[in-house]
Amino acid sequence: MRKPIVAGNWKMYKSFDEAVDFVEAIQQAIPSPDKVDAVICAPALYLPTLVVAAEDSSLAIAAQNMHFEDEGAFTGEISPAMLANIQVDYCVLGHSERREMFNETDEAVNKKVRAALNHGIVPIICCGETLEEREAGATEQKVAGQIIKALEGFTPTEVEHMVLAYEPIWAIGTGKTATADDANAVCGAIRNVVETLYGVETAQAIRIQYGGSVKPENIEELLGKEHIDGALVGGASLQADSYLKLLEAAANA
Ligand code: 13P
Repeated sequence: MRKPIVAGNWKMYKSFDEAVDFVEAIQQAIPSPDKVDAVICAPALYLPTLVVAAEDSSLAIAAQNMHFEDEGAFTGEISPAMLANIQVDYCVLGHSERREMFNETDEAVNKKVRAALNHGIVPIICCGETLEEREAGATEQKVAGQIIKALEGFTPTEVEHMVLAYEPIWAIGTGKTATADDANAVCGAIRNVVETLYGVETAQAIRIQYGGSVKPENIEELLGKEHIDGALVGGASLQADSYLKLLEAAANA
């Protein structure tokens, strides 16, 4: 039985005060920490403060991106060593917005996954197809390629502690959710790829989230499916009451 993980990806939203108020408001209200892992992926600037604000709760704080080098002349970048040093638990890697707008490649994602593990940070590795790819019947080929490359060079034990996130690009921020059956089929295909490469135990242990217009109204149906072990949520994670509803639904799924 895999424990669901619900991660709110705030992207580039919220003022500093709003971010702190949100975490302070929810940190003692996280429902059933034994049944669901709660994560907030916040803008980098807010991370140290939010880690401290959440330290007496089960809420984990995540970064949305990082460099793969520990240090160096990389103006504007943040390193995995820096994130680990302030006790950030997770980092989103290879989000489609970073792949599409900031030229993040599969090779860079692979290096970032290695760097995250070197520092005890759990990577949330994203994959997903465009609408054109879906209409051309190329969804599974696209996500399998992204996952194979992201996971290249790791042991089964390393892989089983990672989190994968299937986010069809056409469903992000559009209000169009993949049907629960479609999302489950792709998450199942991803699990098959993991099984082929790393064995059945790793495939059964790794958690695969769905992301793309997840809301309190649809999360239960999505998480009721065999291969969907959580959600990566943008818009519906920005309000505390909505995020808490997502967690409650996941705890009951
Ligand atoms: P929305 O939930 O706003 O569609 O965003 C999904 C996403 O990109 C989370 O990483």
